[in-house]
Amino acid sequence: MSQNWWDSAVIYQIYPRSFRDSNGDGIGDLQGITEKLETVADLGVDCVWLSPFFKSPFKDFGYDVSDYRAVDPVFGTDRDFDVLLNKAHGLGLKVILDQVLCHCSEEHRWFEESRQDRTNPKADWYVWQNPKPDGTEPNNWLSFFGGRAWTWDARRRQYYFHNFLTSQPNLNHRNPEVRAAVLADCKYWLDKGVDGFRLDAIHTMAFDPDFLDNDPRADIENGGDDSRVSQPFGMQDIQSRQIDQPWGKQFLAELRALADSYDEPRFLMGELGGDNGAEMINRYTQPGLLHACYNFDLLAWDGQTAEELEGVLRRVTDKLEGHQITFATSNHDVPRIASRQVKRLGLAPEDTDRVAMMMVELELALHGSVCLYMGEELGLEDADRLALEDLQDPWGIEFWPTFMGRDTCRTPIPWEAAAKHAGFTTADKPWLPVDERHLPRSMDQQFLDPNSFRAQVKSVIARRKSGEILTGGTLDVLDSPENMLVLQRASGNKNQRVMFNFGTKDALFEGEKVEALSSVFGQPMPG
Ligand code: BGC
Repeated sequence: MSQNWWDSAVIYQIYPRSFRDSNGDGIGDLQGITEKLETVADLGVDCVWLSPFFKSPFKDFGYDVSDYRAVDPVFGTDRDFDVLLNKAHGLGLKVILDQVLCHCSEEHRWFEESRQDRTNPKADWYVWQNPKPDGTEPNNWLSFFGGRAWTWDARRRQYYFHNFLTSQPNLNHRNPEVRAAVLADCKYWLDKGVDGFRLDAIHTMAFDPDFLDNDPRADIENGGDDSRVSQPFGMQDIQSRQIDQPWGKQFLAELRALADSYDEPRFLMGELGGDNGAEMINRYTQPGLLHACYNFDLLAWDGQTAEELEGVLRRVTDKLEGHQITFATSNHDVPRIASRQVKRLGLAPEDTDRVAMMMVELELALHGSVCLYMGEELGLEDADRLALEDLQDPWGIEFWPTFMGRDTCRTPIPWEAAAKHAGFTTADKPWLPVDERHLPRSMDQQFLDPNSFRAQVKSVIARRKSGEILTGGTLDVLDSPENMLVLQRASGNKNQRVMFNFGTKDALFEGEKVEALSSVFGQPMPG
């Protein structure tokens, strides 16, 4: 049964750089978001998640924060944020912020001080280690974005640890002073009235304090087939040592105590990657820790067949109560869902809308909360025709051309089909180009059309919220024929079936017909 607003919330993710540019510099900003909040509220969502807009050198486009309390001038001012928050609340929308607390930017003053020498007051605020006697890195840990997870600093004559870019040093949360400083920055935003946090890559906070080597992954040879793990990083079991160690709970407990100290408790949702989704989620959502975890199982880089979807949903739902989980099928880190699924299922481009709608319906038929990524309501396909010279994401630049990185899902939202750069910006050049294929799907084309993709998404959201079965109820995955996925939701003495046919031929489930590439939400039944 739902008790908190977040237990079954529909959360709309905004990547501020690409949402709407109000000042003509080619980069989206807070005022641009404020101008468009009515459009977001109109969809019927409960909450907005804002990806980082804090001060940053933008080596990882804001996931490298150099001042946790400051709005970066590229996005606007403190006042712009206050106006946004106020307006969102006035429209009945909650607002959660992305807090990147496991690492920061090398330009953060804490790191600038820490790297000066081995004795300064912040010397132990990051993860510093001596080299091996032969001068090489302390262990075999690799960075998610390529290369070693260790970078040499000539002043300290030591290596510092970073899971991501060399410019994103990991904070040492074993040090109570670090935890206190980070919590004080979190409190700053909670005091302003934000409704909670999405905690970036929270599983990457806790490393093995003995710095032993990661184990190899026995199941992956030479990087595996998945386009993302065909990088050496994918060949290690990073959960064995590099991340996800038990001592990380300490900070989560302290953050939860802070979140609970307000009259209106605040929502804590942790982003968790890695294997063993349900087992990990259970660990991170024990009483007194996080409320929910953002789950990656439906974000597979190369899409998923009906059987694969069934497998991951069984794995996760068998062991979890709904409110502990936040599902997503798209975000700012993976190719857009419509294209992933079209490729994976071997469908034709004309099938894009149908499969994109099925994935929205699937998300909204699941238990727990759900994050819709901006543009998902328009049925946007992935902007996978970007040229190398357009790329901005350092991960994509590193592994081009076998892997394009994350820019393909970060191109600007098309607001007006006929306007320059689809009305995203008046600048000559936006930071990433608008994909021409998005123009017929632009907001102005869809907003007033009662049959548009967006209008259908809006009605699916309304259907989810119309009763308890799809929000507060339990979820079971039923055995189903090939290409089908059948969910059973139940609450009190009622249940409801939701059937998906990912095949290109009509199918039957217990005598009921489900047309090719479509879904059927059954009537709520007693029992
Ligand atoms: C974010 C990414 C970011 C990384 C490092 C993630 O999981 O979603 O966009 O690059 O954390 O902060």
